[in-house]
Amino acid sequence: MSNSKTIPRTIPREEGLDHTLSLMREGYMYIPNRRRSLNTDLFETRLLGKKAICMGGKEAAELFYDTEKFKRENAAPNRMVQTLLGKNGVQGLDGEEHRHRKEMFMSIMSREMLDELIAITRDQWKAALVKWEQVDKIVLYEEVQEILCRTACQWAGVPVPEKEVKTLTKHLSAMFESPAAVGPAHWSGRYARNQVEMWVGKVIQEVREGKVNPPENTALHKFAWHQDLAGNLLDSETAAVEVINILRPIVAISIYIAFTALALHHYEEERKKLESGEDKEKDAEMFVHEVRRFYPFFPFAAALVKQDFTWNGYTFEEGTLTLLDLYGTNHDPSHWDNPELFNPERFAGWKGSPFGLIPQGGGDYFGGHRCAGEWVTIEVMKASLDFLVNRMNYEVPDQDLSYSLVSIPSIPHSKVVFEKVRRKP
Ligand code: HEM
Repeated sequence: MSNSKTIPRTIPREEGLDHTLSLMREGYMYIPNRRRSLNTDLFETRLLGKKAICMGGKEAAELFYDTEKFKRENAAPNRMVQTLLGKNGVQGLDGEEHRHRKEMFMSIMSREMLDELIAITRDQWKAALVKWEQVDKIVLYEEVQEILCRTACQWAGVPVPEKEVKTLTKHLSAMFESPAAVGPAHWSGRYARNQVEMWVGKVIQEVREGKVNPPENTALHKFAWHQDLAGNLLDSETAAVEVINILRPIVAISIYIAFTALALHHYEEERKKLESGEDKEKDAEMFVHEVRRFYPFFPFAAALVKQDFTWNGYTFEEGTLTLLDLYGTNHDPSHWDNPELFNPERFAGWKGSPFGLIPQGGGDYFGGHRCAGEWVTIEVMKASLDFLVNRMNYEVPDQDLSYSLVSIPSIPHSKVVFEKVRRKP
């Protein structure tokens, strides 16, 4: 992209009436394919009957996270609100209201709370391992969903009766598995959200009535008593949506853990480094970053142009839906050497950039919309990686470990089956 800011330029356009079907057919590759064929980091198209701008790359990410230029209110499609996001949550807020709500999220992300999360995660893995030793085989993705549901609820201070754990695990998973699905799979996501919102809403009320007393540093306590900018408590539905904004994505880390297991299986030499390298902590961190960069999760993030502006000579009109290519930016050859190579070493000496590695969004945590749970994700992945590498033996039988770049979210097709799971002596 040229740096000229003065010469007016026309945004390259994908011709045709509507490209929603192509988006559904090409999934994660819809934007990267056009960035390549149109030879541009920015193009205009039509999605869901409306004009939309798609963009990718580090420079585009920097623009996208400028909250003066883009807003989030009404940016998410209804099918995502009804399943993944819920109504009135932090994702759709702007300005001061967003900053204030985001601070509520970030207030539970202290080092102390992250250490507690690591301890809970480890306990849950240990308990699961004992159970797995008793059976012939396990489906790792599903087992880890339950581990993480238990972990999330305990960490967030949400009490769950033992007999409800499996149903809650299924419901929380349906919320992130269903947004792009069609038919019954999608409707099960909507049903799951309604059920869980009702239940968590009741728990919030019980906290306020003093019938449930979660520890003060937990999400349940903090969110139940959070005051908005006018000094009012959140209504119980909104507070429930925000507590679910902690529980659901922690369970979704199961997708990354399935991919972690896949990477360990496919890249034996990387596993060896993790087992016997000199700086295990650093090697684990690099491995986790590479899993998050390499494998698909969210294809893009969405925002609306706040008011007309010009950037590099291109005009962005108020209200235009704009998608930032997350997957493609993580695989951008102008930023990553050999992006299609799984190579954790690329993160040796990596200084970090708020706009280069963006599987969980870019920019700033506080002022912007970058994922509130990125540190949580990294810690849970590292704790889980330690179990997969150092604390258990298992066999990986023949199965379909391929994954799609079309279905969203992508999950290895077999969901990763392990046999003969045993604790390492
Ligand atoms: C499982 C791996 C995860 C991935 C791939 C992921 C990805 C993302 C992405 C792409 C965004 C949107 C960025 C944007 O709108 O520009 C986001 C936002 C968010 N995520 Fe995550 N996330 C993950 C885990 C988590 C976890 C574990 C939590 C909480 C414990 C969490 C809480 C949030 C919240 C609250 C937001 C909204 C932030 C805002 O709008 O200001 N996420 N995440």
